[in-house]
Amino acid sequence: MDIIEKLKNIRKEAEKELKEISKISDLLEFKSKYLNKKTGKITEILKLLPELAVDMKRIVGKEANMLKKDIEAEVKKIEKALSSKKDLVFYDITLPGTYVSKGYKNIILKVLEDCKSIFSNVGFDIVEGPQVETDYYNFEALNIPEDHPARDMHDTFYVSEHILLRTHTSPVQIRVMEKQKPPIAMISPGPCYRSDTPDATHSPVFHQIEGLYVDKNVSFADLKGILTYFFQSFFSKDVKLRFRPSFFPFTEPSTEVDISCIFCGGKGCNVCKHTGWIEVAGAGMVDPEVFKYVDYDTEIYSGYAFGMGVERITMLKYQINDIRLFFENNLNFLNQF
Ligand code: FA5
Repeated sequence: MDIIEKLKNIRKEAEKELKEISKISDLLEFKSKYLNKKTGKITEILKLLPELAVDMKRIVGKEANMLKKDIEAEVKKIEKALSSKKDLVFYDITLPGTYVSKGYKNIILKVLEDCKSIFSNVGFDIVEGPQVETDYYNFEALNIPEDHPARDMHDTFYVSEHILLRTHTSPVQIRVMEKQKPPIAMISPGPCYRSDTPDATHSPVFHQIEGLYVDKNVSFADLKGILTYFFQSFFSKDVKLRFRPSFFPFTEPSTEVDISCIFCGGKGCNVCKHTGWIEVAGAGMVDPEVFKYVDYDTEIYSGYAFGMGVERITMLKYQINDIRLFFENNLNFLNQF
């Protein structure tokens, strides 16, 4: 067949097929059949050019290019019509993909995950509690009545008169004990809020991990055991713990927990203010007054509880000197972990 005839036939065939295109897959198939640079019908004709006489080369070349341009113009029109149809987006699957950077976990989230796995390895459940709490769970049921001075240290953001952003994770103790009878072994990690002025060690938003263990014959030795296990797993086997008498309305006796300074090994440095110790948690034996709020028999059950600041232990582990860095979203800081 004459080559010009062939081009005419291709044009006819293409025009007919263009009219039948109703969806994107048809269009892609059409483009590949006629316009593909290696195997398309127009390329097939152009491949024959070298064998033609000079005059014919010019005529066929011109015709073939015109056909190509006409087909491309029609394809563009159809692409536009199809992609403007409702719910239909035109995807050119031949385009290279867009690189989407994956992102990664914030250091606080990573530390929370480490802590959860250390505790769940020894049988503690992980429980979440509400961040918006009632006065009752945040204070009252933890033996902090309305006029108790401990409320001053927990000044917070009030949603209404009796609804507030929780100041600590301790309300989860009450919520769990209300629902469950002993034995209980749980930790509850999560954000807390206090209207503290931000400085190097204080932030209005921070995280705590609460721990609660209730059963028959639980003693202070059990509390020392679990905290020693936790801090030695989290920091290192060499870390020593010190328990200092303290006061919390919901534990009796109460203690502050210090670890030997991980910067100087307990010899004394600027970080530990030359004492060799750094405070990391509050803890104690659950006050029987608290058990009364949840109807536990105080003659049968005893328990321990603890609460630690997550930013504090993260700062120690990763040698970060300002808590505000966690909340500034400065990528130069976050990318280090
Ligand atoms: C409490 O919040 C008690 N609920 C802990 C507790 C639980 C005691 C169970 C006994 C039994 P305290 O107010 O000391 O205690 O806070 C505990 C830790 O939270 C602190 O050691 C500190 O690391 C962290 N923390 C408190 N306020 C802030 C703040 N504004 N910014 C950052 N961390 C804070």
